[in-house]
Amino acid sequence: QPAAPGGGNVPASGDVILLGQVGALTGGQATFGISTRNGIEMALKEANAAGGVKGKKLAIRVYDNQSKPEEAAQATTRLITQDKVAIILGDVASSNSLAMAEKAQAAGVPMITPSSTNTTVTQKGDYIFRVCFIDPFQGYVMAKFAREDLKLNKVAVLQDNKSAYSIDLSDVFTRKFTEMGGKITTTESYSQGDTDYRAQLTAIRKTQPDGIYVPGYYSEVGVIARQAREVGLKVPLMGGDGWDSEKLFELGGSAIQGSYFSNHYSPDNPDPRVQKFISEYKATYGGVPDALAALGYDAARVAIEALKRSKDLSGPAVRDAIAQTKDFPGVAGTITLDDKRNAVKSAVVLKVGDGKTEYVTTVNP
Ligand code: PHE
Repeated sequence: QPAAPGGGNVPASGDVILLGQVGALTGGQATFGISTRNGIEMALKEANAAGGVKGKKLAIRVYDNQSKPEEAAQATTRLITQDKVAIILGDVASSNSLAMAEKAQAAGVPMITPSSTNTTVTQKGDYIFRVCFIDPFQGYVMAKFAREDLKLNKVAVLQDNKSAYSIDLSDVFTRKFTEMGGKITTTESYSQGDTDYRAQLTAIRKTQPDGIYVPGYYSEVGVIARQAREVGLKVPLMGGDGWDSEKLFELGGSAIQGSYFSNHYSPDNPDPRVQKFISEYKATYGGVPDALAALGYDAARVAIEALKRSKDLSGPAVRDAIAQTKDFPGVAGTITLDDKRNAVKSAVVLKVGDGKTEYVTTVNP
């Protein structure tokens, strides 16, 4: 049963346009899927309150991929063949989106990932879009910040070998940091789900770096931060958008404070549009929305606008309408899709504080 606008279940009927979401609602990336779902739900409620699209109400069918690519692929197939959704939204983790994009492209069903940054995701084909920046930019942003703002000379890298996102971001950071005159002392790796990082961290300590780049997800990064301090590493940690979760503060405790990561959005952005989104989100879901919630909201709104503009609800027509997205006012930045179906946007650098992030700077493409 597809979920009704704003929750609950209604049977699919001619009066409903069904969208689909595949996301991690359980597993090591659970806050990613949940935040994204909240953002999408908010956008749908607003659109339905304003009359829906083409005389129909919007509804969303959500499947949990348990933070696993194989599950993401299967859920996508279900959305396509069983639920016959008009657009697929998701996922967050690039490895999951890559598995989904394969299926969506083959079936000719448009897919918009709110937040997967790995370059190859949208290269899967002309039905695959994203409303966020890509990792070559994000890697550059942190390399520049490490070199020019933190004035670091020697940085060690600790990457997640099970994540397309982490491997790529590690490569980009290494290339950019080296080009800017810095030195990478060592590159160590782990596998998503590991719990003991002391061997890698001890190897890193021996190279005496003045910073450590950890392009992973919050569930591992929080633990890595604690163990880094345990083995005597006192230098700042740096990372990318994968750190963004309320859980990071809990998992990392005081060990993660004073570290930095690049991200899509800062809750401190004074823009009234952003603050309005934050206060409405808080009222409904409690807690400050993270970048996933903001990008989920933006992706759903881009999808809805495209459905309005599209001449009909067929795959090719909807795809063409999405591709024409231009100067769209998102809460995580203005969205214009380029000819590679990526959004070109600025990034922010955030500092991890006590239970919240602090805005540091914005870097434009
Ligand atoms: N960019 C990450 C990826 O591609 C996902 C992510 C986005 C995580 C934003 C947190 C915040 O895997």
